[in-house]
Amino acid sequence: MATMKAVRIHTYGGPEVLTYEEAPLPEIAADDVLIRVHAAAVNPVDWKIREGYLQGFIDYDLPLVLGWDVSGVVEAVGAGVTTFKPGDQVYSRPNIQRDGAYAEYIAVKASEVAFKPKTVDHIHAAAVPLAGITAWHCLFEAGGLTAGQRVLIHAAAGGVGSYAVQFAHWKGANVIGTASARNRDFVLELGANQVIDYQTTPFEDAIEPVDVVFDTIGGEVQERSWQVVKPGGMLVSIVSTPSEEKAAAHHCRSAYVFIQPRADWLTEMAHLMDAGQVKSIVETVLPLSQVVEAHHLSQSGRTRGKIVLQVKE
Ligand SMILES: NC(=O)c1ccc[n+]([C@@H]2O[C@H](COP(=O)([O-])OP(=O)(O)OC[C@H]3O[C@@H](n4cnc5c(N)ncnc54)[C@H](OP(=O)(O)O)[C@@H]3O)[C@@H](O)[C@H]2O)c1
Repeated sequence: MATMKAVRIHTYGGPEVLTYEEAPLPEIAADDVLIRVHAAAVNPVDWKIREGYLQGFIDYDLPLVLGWDVSGVVEAVGAGVTTFKPGDQVYSRPNIQRDGAYAEYIAVKASEVAFKPKTVDHIHAAAVPLAGITAWHCLFEAGGLTAGQRVLIHAAAGGVGSYAVQFAHWKGANVIGTASARNRDFVLELGANQVIDYQTTPFEDAIEPVDVVFDTIGGEVQERSWQVVKPGGMLVSIVSTPSEEKAAAHHCRSAYVFIQPRADWLTEMAHLMDAGQVKSIVETVLPLSQVVEAHHLSQSGRTRGKIVLQVKE
């Protein structure tokens, strides 16, 4: 059996269950492409799945390769694939119900794959798909954000927030972000009009109501966010389902989003990156073999931009 290096979990648990080992080379179906992984980004969902939080929602057959953000080169294509060929440089946020990208190779449905931005390397391309699709979905599809509207983006310095700020700014919205003091200038440089230091200033005391709140934190941050949504506005969360009763009481709408692969949006994002409108922020690059450290960093909740695992030099 052909094998590859991969990071798998054989049981749910702490970072110690991450096992860097030989694993079977993925087989491709007729509608799949086989990607030689150059880089795989780390997202909070990786350690949440590692800890077993999604059991009951997704029933995995262990062992499982983690990591659902990839940039690499097409190695082979299934018999039914006409959109890609070996040698194409691509990126993807693949279906999280299958083995992920902490590996030398990953099989992905061709419909979930896009050509990567030409002007950035694999490390920076891998940092885009999951967080970028999330920000795009919440701001534009669920949030309906348009030019001239006001948006509050919580955790504006994080993986999702750093794309959300840039996309909202590109759209022509007035962007308010929350971040700690050390990230204030960083978030302003991404295009925010105002940054609130959430550690010293309650955001609900600092701003006029907004058209869209993008909740990336949940809990009491979501609760306090109702106070700043305009009547007719929208609260979108990626952490927990907002109360319909509270939305009705505040005369606004709400949504919980759990993202799915969207190659069409990845193509738009690649164009924005190649046009210099959006950049990929990578704080830390580690080799695949140092995945345990990458998970500790991600779980600290202090990441600025993204953490990326380099799989191929
Ligand atoms: N439902 C979905 O489809 C979906 C998709 C993607 C992500 N998510 C979830 O969304 C959450 C955010 O993901 P992410 O990748 O952006 O995480 P991340 O990159 O780990 O976020 C880290 C950032 O959060 C900031 N932060 C922490 N506490 C904060 C607070 N109370 N107020 C404001 N900022 C705060 C930190 O900034 P400071 O250091 O300045 O505090 C840091 O920059 C995670 O729970 C993730 O699982 C869900």
